[in-house]
Amino acid sequence: MLTVKIAIDGPAGAGKSTIARIVAKRLGLRYLDTGAMYRAVTLAALKKGVSCADEEALLRVATSMDLEIVFEKETKSNLVYLNGEDVTSAIRQPEVNASVSLVSSHKKVREFIVALQKEIGRQGCIVMDGRDIGTVVMPDADWKIFLQASVEERARRRQKELQRNGHAVDLVELEEQIRQRDHSDSTREVSPLRKAEDAIEVDTTHMNIEQVVDKVLAIIKGADEDV
Ligand code: DC
Repeated sequence: MLTVKIAIDGPAGAGKSTIARIVAKRLGLRYLDTGAMYRAVTLAALKKGVSCADEEALLRVATSMDLEIVFEKETKSNLVYLNGEDVTSAIRQPEVNASVSLVSSHKKVREFIVALQKEIGRQGCIVMDGRDIGTVVMPDADWKIFLQASVEERARRRQKELQRNGHAVDLVELEEQIRQRDHSDSTREVSPLRKAEDAIEVDTTHMNIEQVVDKVLAIIKGADEDV
C-alpha cells in the first residue's frame, strides 16, 4: 500500500498547525498536532501541582495519563482528551504556553511522547506538525517542509489566536516569550528545533494562509518553480 507522510516543522507561530491541517484536508490525509501532546503533559502536570522542572515526576504524569487524540474527519482538527475530559482549549491557555517548552525539553518525556508519535505515523498516511518531525519522528517522510516567519509576525499571529480564545496579551510580551521559546527549543539537548537537511524552507512572513497552502501543495505536487 502506498503511504504518504508529510512532516511540517518550524518555530512557534510560523503557521504549522493551520497549514498542516488544511494540507491534510485537501489531500485527504490524517493530521497530528504533536505540540498538543506536550501541551497535554504540561496541563496534567500543572493540574497535579507537579514541577515542570522535575523530569522523573513528569514522566510519571505522562505515562499515567489517559491521552486520547481524536482525528476529526470533517475539519481534520485534533480534539484532545485528558483522562476523559476535553482539553482542546485548555491546553492553549497562557499558563500552559509558559511551561510547555520546559516540559518538552526533558529527555525521558520526549522519548515517551516520540514513541507514541512514531506509532501514530506507522498507522498510515499522515501530515504531522512539530519541531522534530522531519529529523526524529518521521525521518523517512516523503516531504519535509520547514515553515519560518519573523518574530514580530509570529507574535502578531499568536496574539490574534489568544484574543480569539478570550485572552488579552501584550504584543511586546509575546515577542519576548517567542524569542525565549525559540532559544530554548533550538538549544535544548534532545531533539532541538532544526531544519532537516532535506527539508524545504518556506518563509511565511509576508504570505497569507492560502498562499502558504498553495506553496506547500505545489512543492508536494512537484510544481514549485523556486525549489
Ligand atoms: O507547536 P506548539 O506551540 O503547540 O508546541 C508546544 C511546545 O512543544 C513548544 O515549546 C515546542 C514543543 N514541541 C516539541 O518540542 N516537539 C514537537 N514535535 C512539538 C512541540
